[in-house]
Amino acid sequence: MQSNYVKQLLSKMTLQEKIGQLQQIAGDFFGDDGSPITGPLSTYKVSKTQLYNIGSVLGVSGAENVLKIQREYLKNNRLHIPLIFMADIIHGYKTIFPIPLALGSTWDPELVKRVAQASAAEASASGIDVTFSPMVDLVHDPRWGRVMESTGEDPYLNSLFAKSFVDGYQGNLPVDEKHVAATVKHFAAYGAPEAGREYNTVDMSEWRFREQYLPAYQKAIESKALLVMTSFNILFGIPATGNKYLMRHILRRELGFNGVLISDWNAINEMISHGVASDSEEAAEKAIQAGTDIDMMSFAFLGSLEKLAMKNEEVKKLIDEAAARVLNLKDALGLFDDPYRGVDAAKERQIVLSQENLGLAKKAAEEATVLLKNQHQSLPLDSNKAIALIGSKANTGDLLGNWSWKGDPASTQTIKSALEDHFDNILFEAGYDMVSAENNLSLNEQAISSAKKQDVILYVAGLSASQSGEASSMTDISLPKEQLDLLRKLSKLHKPIITIVITGRPLDLTEVDRLSDAILLPWFPGTAGALAIADIVSGKTNPTGRLSMTFPKSVGQIPIYYNYYNTGRPLTGTLEDRNNIYLSKYIDSSNDPLYPFGFGLSYSNYTLKDLRLSKKEFTADESITASVTVKNNSKISGTATVQWYIHDLVGEVVRPVKELKHFQRVQLGAGAEETVTFTVSKQDLSYVHADFTRVSDAGSFKLLVGFSSQTELETSFLFKN
Ligand code: GLC
Repeated sequence: MQSNYVKQLLSKMTLQEKIGQLQQIAGDFFGDDGSPITGPLSTYKVSKTQLYNIGSVLGVSGAENVLKIQREYLKNNRLHIPLIFMADIIHGYKTIFPIPLALGSTWDPELVKRVAQASAAEASASGIDVTFSPMVDLVHDPRWGRVMESTGEDPYLNSLFAKSFVDGYQGNLPVDEKHVAATVKHFAAYGAPEAGREYNTVDMSEWRFREQYLPAYQKAIESKALLVMTSFNILFGIPATGNKYLMRHILRRELGFNGVLISDWNAINEMISHGVASDSEEAAEKAIQAGTDIDMMSFAFLGSLEKLAMKNEEVKKLIDEAAARVLNLKDALGLFDDPYRGVDAAKERQIVLSQENLGLAKKAAEEATVLLKNQHQSLPLDSNKAIALIGSKANTGDLLGNWSWKGDPASTQTIKSALEDHFDNILFEAGYDMVSAENNLSLNEQAISSAKKQDVILYVAGLSASQSGEASSMTDISLPKEQLDLLRKLSKLHKPIITIVITGRPLDLTEVDRLSDAILLPWFPGTAGALAIADIVSGKTNPTGRLSMTFPKSVGQIPIYYNYYNTGRPLTGTLEDRNNIYLSKYIDSSNDPLYPFGFGLSYSNYTLKDLRLSKKEFTADESITASVTVKNNSKISGTATVQWYIHDLVGEVVRPVKELKHFQRVQLGAGAEETVTFTVSKQDLSYVHADFTRVSDAGSFKLLVGFSSQTELETSFLFKN
């Protein structure tokens, strides 16, 4: 919907000025040396006239810096059209929250909305108008480094978080100065690269795309996200950035998205490498025809659109359409009323890294941390315990994870320092060096001699921030060799070993599980992560995290996820299965994951009982209410996550063996119990049919409930449509 102001502005603009609005460049073109470069750099020379017609800039922040650039820009822009400042605020600006895959483990959409709100407030105070977040790509493959940016493998859970991020970032429209515009990315299905290899081919049926991958994008768009970013990959055989069917038919017509579609970095020109454009001009034409509005850093638009418009009246109309969308975005951000959106250095200092935000970062890190194992109640540790704290990861601020641009690892509290506030007798040894292996033997020996003196070993292992995120695909997802070697040596001391794993992706922890009595997974927990870890280790906080992405037993099982299809020869685990080789299984491994979707332990002990249905069948205009009682059998209060799954026994197309449809986080005091309910209606039973309609069929269903996707109780019902 164009405001009159935008209409009038468009009528005054030259073709070059309109094209300028469709080009985005990095901040270094404006002399900002802090602008992160996240892709190949073009050699395109931007003239001074062109520079002051550019519509948006990425990777610039800081109140004073933004004010300076905007003032200079407005002085030189003929119609005084403000610049938009966009940046990757993925899990916080300066207060860094846990990585999105960790936020996915909170199963707490309300908390994630608050995290997005806090991130937006800091970013906006620092002059940013648009964040390139949320990334809502569904992921199945931990070999792909960008799983860290996703909230996981489930369409329903990802959709809830997609809404949380957009609502938290944008607030109510128009976007006020405490919020930023959200960019849903990467449209579409970037999370399914073959072999988990970065930027690799994505190839799936449209049915699978619509059933599994589209829902979270759709929910973000229904939540009024103002931008969408195209993905690098092909989908249905055509690069997303030039894919008319994907963008004009599915995104704009079916999903009703009429906001700004921005390409990913250089993605327009990359259509040449993909082999669907012979040169930059053809790439630009395909992109504008597909409805891409902004060219991020390929300069195909700046370099070719004018020529294309001279040859083809239709391109002129497409340029007008795209320019109108960019100006509408500036209008929605209030930039025509106040090009500075209230940015002010004093306010920035007040908001950025506020105590309130740091407190929220600690709460988020606590809720994101997953207790994967806790044999013999090894955790929590009594304060009088003599601890051998081993591992260089215990003494580093490298806890922020990738895409934490303005975060500062150097000033991030270490796990060692946070533990020292809880325990008096800690002997720390680095034990291994994450950079060079040359002195690992002596480090190992020092670690072992300290460990011999203490009651318990607290072993901190894991990856560095650069070992997940973009351009960090891996074929081997086990712990680094030097870390596993040391763990094997420590295990020979026959002392309790608690392993803390810092990671941005699911790892093969099979041997770590065998050698450790307890395993804690904080992921990359962010600025206040060490405080959260220390509170959990000491028992001040009872862990509540639940995996939103499966942990495989080995990389050979990938892709492995909970909502799989049964196949014609399912491995059902019955006795006769053992001798029947003609089943969907391996001859060298089980089908089971190491830790399943939804899994996470607690210091409490919960049980479920009395699963009941209000009736055994219902019709389209009715619903049934399922109830179950959850009990905390321990003396420690905690929060259980009751998870409800549906299995549609017979569909027009195959149906997953189970699908998450609802969950509750239930706070329970010592010994307390509570009955929770899930009202099932026909919407919960709908699925994408062969003709791509999403409808519900009559039939028999199972309702399963548990504390993970390895559910504990089940019942069945009939839906009669
Ligand atoms: C990167 C990423 C994208 C990011 C953009 C700008 O290549 O793919 O997620 O928003 O470039 O940094």
